[in-house]
Amino acid sequence: MFTPEMLESIKKVEATRAERMGVEPRRMTAEEKSELLKAYHPDYRAEGFKQIQIGPNKGQKAPVELTDLLHSNSRLLGVDIDLDKIDYDVDVLVIGGGGAGCSAAIEAHEAGANVMVVTKLRIGDANTMMAEGGIQAADKPNDSPVQHYLDAFGGGHFAARPELLRRLVMEAPDAIQWLNKLGVMFDKYEDGTMVTTHGGGTSRKRMHACKDYSGAEIMRTVRDEVLNRKIPVVEFTSAVELIKDDKGQVAGAVLLNMETDDYLVARAKTVIIATGGAGRLHYQNFPTSNHYGATADGLILGYRAGAPLLYQDTIQYHPTGVAYPSQIFGALVTEKVRSLGAMLVNKDGEAYAHPLETRDVSASAIIRECANGKGMDTPLGSGVWLDTPMIEMIHGEGTIEKRIPAMLRMYLNYGIDMRKVPILVYPTLHYQNGGLEIGGEGYTKAIPNLLVAGEAVGGIHGRNRLMGNSLLDIIVFGRNAGKAAARRAKETELGTMNLDHVKAYADELAKAGVAQEGVSPLLLPQYARHER
Ligand code: FUM
Repeated sequence: MFTPEMLESIKKVEATRAERMGVEPRRMTAEEKSELLKAYHPDYRAEGFKQIQIGPNKGQKAPVELTDLLHSNSRLLGVDIDLDKIDYDVDVLVIGGGGAGCSAAIEAHEAGANVMVVTKLRIGDANTMMAEGGIQAADKPNDSPVQHYLDAFGGGHFAARPELLRRLVMEAPDAIQWLNKLGVMFDKYEDGTMVTTHGGGTSRKRMHACKDYSGAEIMRTVRDEVLNRKIPVVEFTSAVELIKDDKGQVAGAVLLNMETDDYLVARAKTVIIATGGAGRLHYQNFPTSNHYGATADGLILGYRAGAPLLYQDTIQYHPTGVAYPSQIFGALVTEKVRSLGAMLVNKDGEAYAHPLETRDVSASAIIRECANGKGMDTPLGSGVWLDTPMIEMIHGEGTIEKRIPAMLRMYLNYGIDMRKVPILVYPTLHYQNGGLEIGGEGYTKAIPNLLVAGEAVGGIHGRNRLMGNSLLDIIVFGRNAGKAAARRAKETELGTMNLDHVKAYADELAKAGVAQEGVSPLLLPQYARHER
């Protein structure tokens, strides 16, 4: 299972373990962090970015792969769509069947709206399902939303939009209660109090978890609630373009049935984009922890219709993706492994940084170690050790199986027992910090009645997100978007529908001379097999 070189290196990790056990590596100073980020964080690699040439963010940079999609034509260019033939007619159209989309649909339904979810894969095929470590909320006596705000604001380099972050932290305790009542099986002590731990950059233990499959448990619960309420869910169907009306409001979306290739028209008084992230664009050739459908579709839909992006140039690389074995390269190794005490150690057995620095800092430090020859060579690159046997030494035998069973199982499948040997990790593309710009109520800045929730939003977390604040934002902003959309639908009169913005965008692309050959949104990763 390990190469002879890896086994040699493991001996060095074991040799320093006893000495390391009692001593936490010191935290970096602000200056040290800033220098490290500039030197090693992928956001600072100029070659990874390109200038956007058209649209509301013209002149700003975005990852090359995203810019190319923004510079691509619509799938509908040259296709005759009959907007008078309406296939679905609803108050609230939710695009995306992950945690944010389901939360939005539940609340819109609760408010009495006629709501429909459309999703290009199946309901629940989403990054929510892949989330492991937990969800933050300041609901313990030694904590407060203010403390939560300060942690997240600092961790995000003071760039979070205050009205968004304020909402996130203030509504967090209620989000936990909502999930608990819906049936999420949070880890609890015998007296019913929830178990909470630290994450990178948290000053209090406020990470609520369901072992290390928190996202799967939350997704299971909200998906069941959608289905129990009999909210219509149209699966294997993508939104490929928003529809607007002659008043400039959003008025629905053109959908593509991915099994038959038929186009369908959904008219809606309000639309919520909840399409998630972009990991499957593999920025800068990074592997990803994201699900198969994470291709930035919502950003393209919104942008082409005129909605601005915010912080589209900042990406989160989770420090601990699997570096070895190759079969699970890039899969997530939850931060909870470090919360439970495992240290990051280079090939010489040195703990070179505090294990719970914020993610951007932690990822940069791993990249630095590997760039400086302190990483362990692997078949697909290199990595550093995450010293997992420390967990059982600190908390006792059985802790790994009890607290992070999914990790244990994932590695045992490949003959690696993380209770006995350390594991090899390297950063993996995990999260888009940026996305469509919204105000506090969830509406986009430029298009009336268009809302965004979840990972497709930019600005909630600033330029770096703390662990557990994403599972939180999908619930807080999903629920709010659903409520707001239902309210707005009651007072909305739709005008005549059109796709004029699609033609206008194509004209602008042609004028700028930057049109790419492909079409967008991408819908499935480049390596998808298209067979009929
Ligand atoms: O490390 C993790 O479990 C990931 C959590 C998150 O992205 O919030």
